[in-house]
Amino acid sequence: MMREKTWRDLIAVADLEPGDATPVALEGRELAVFDTRDGIFVAHARCTHGAANLCDGYFDGRRIECPLHQGLFDARTGVALAAPARVPLRMVEARVRDGLVQVLL
Ligand code: FES
Repeated sequence: MMREKTWRDLIAVADLEPGDATPVALEGRELAVFDTRDGIFVAHARCTHGAANLCDGYFDGRRIECPLHQGLFDARTGVALAAPARVPLRMVEARVRDGLVQVLL
């Protein structure tokens, strides 16, 4: 039976790298918290093309570039923007409450 999703505390906003991608582990999941110019977004941190952790890539405030083959994703939507990335990132619903980033998992 599927467990109902609940909001979980992930990381304090104050602990994020401002304007950057911060890796956070939660119950065995590797997540990436993107502090974008349009707010905070969370995705599974592994590139959908290979084994890279996207938090090691270049982030320009909206787009994250994979460190391995330079695939490009929109960090707000997960959409793959440049080859070899084709499959979108798995985004996780996120919100900020009382200074904490929370995710619905
Ligand atoms: S592993 Fe990310 S583009 Fe290949």
